[in-house]
Amino acid sequence: MDPEVTIEYENVHKRFDTPVLSGVNLSVMRGETVSILGTSGTGKSVLLKTTIGLITPDRGDVRIDGESVYHSTRLGLRDLRRTVRYVFQYAALFDSLNIYENVAMGLDPAEIKTLDPQVMLDRIAASLVNVNLEPAKVLSKLPAELSGGMRKRVGLARAIVGEPRIILYDEPVTGLDPVNSATVNRLIMSIAERTKVTSIVVTHDVEGALEMSHRVALLDNGTLRFIGTPDEFRRSEDPLVMAFADRRAAAEAALKLIEHDAYDDNDAGPAHAISIGVRA
Ligand SMILES: Nc1ncnc2c1ncn2[C@@H]1O[C@H](COP(=O)(O)OP(=O)(O)O)[C@@H](O)[C@H]1O
Ligand SMILES: [Mg+2]
Repeated sequence: MDPEVTIEYENVHKRFDTPVLSGVNLSVMRGETVSILGTSGTGKSVLLKTTIGLITPDRGDVRIDGESVYHSTRLGLRDLRRTVRYVFQYAALFDSLNIYENVAMGLDPAEIKTLDPQVMLDRIAASLVNVNLEPAKVLSKLPAELSGGMRKRVGLARAIVGEPRIILYDEPVTGLDPVNSATVNRLIMSIAERTKVTSIVVTHDVEGALEMSHRVALLDNGTLRFIGTPDEFRRSEDPLVMAFADRRAAAEAALKLIEHDAYDDNDAGPAHAISIGVRA
C-alpha cells in the first residue's frame, strides 16, 4: 500500500431498506482535504460513519493507515477514537456543560486523568484561540449563551484539542449564514494547513468545497460518480457535476454582494443583496 494513503474506502457497500452505498472506492492521502458533495439522502453521512465503525459496511472495507477498521487486530476502537474525530452537524455540544467542559470532551479520557490541570486548561484555551474564540470570554459560558457560528467553532475546538490525525466534518456550515459559513470554511482550511490533519468534509457548500479542498467527490446513486481536483470539477462536462457547479455561481454572486455590503457602506445596500439572493 502507498504509505501516503491515510484513509482507504474499498468497494464499500451498505444497504438499509434499499441500497445506499454500492461500491464506494476512494483513497485519501496524508494531509489531504477531500470534500464530498451529493444531494440529501445519498449516503454521505453513512459513508463518514463507516470510517469510525458507527455503521458497518455489508461488503468492502475501510482502512486507516492500512489497518482495517473492521478486521484489524491492531487497530482497537480506542486507537480509532484517538486518531479520528467526527464533527457532527449542528455542533452537537452538551447543553448543560460549559465551553471548557465541552472542549475537554475532545481529549482522550485516559489522558485527562494524567494531565496537569493547568496544562489541560492551556490546551483547551489554545484550541479555542485557534478557532478565533477568546477563552476568557467563553470558557465558563453555556452553549445556549453563544451564537450558532460560535457554537460551530466550539465544535471545531473540541475536534482539534485531542490532536487527531484525521477529522471528518459532517456538514460543518449547514444552518449558517454565508458570512459565518465562510469563517468556518476558512478555519477548516487553516486547521488543515497548520496541523497537517487529513480531512473529509461533507458539505452542501459547493463554492466552499472547491475553495478549501485538494479534491472533491460527488456521491450519486451509491458510488462516487466524480473524483477530481476543483479545476477538474469546474471543467467537467458531466451534467450532474455541472448542475452542482451552477449552484456555486449563484451562491458566489450572492456572497460577493453580502461581503461588498459589509465592507463598503456607500453603495447599493442590503436590499440589493436580498433581491439577488432571492433570484439566485
Ligand atoms: N441507521 C440507519 N438505519 C436505517 N437507514 C438509515 C440509517 N442511516 C441512514 N439511513 C438511510 O440511508 C440513506 C442515506 O442517509 P445519509 O447518509 O444520512 O444521507 P446524507 O447524504 O444526506 O448524509 C437515507 O435514506 C437514510 O434514511
Ligand atoms: Mg448527512
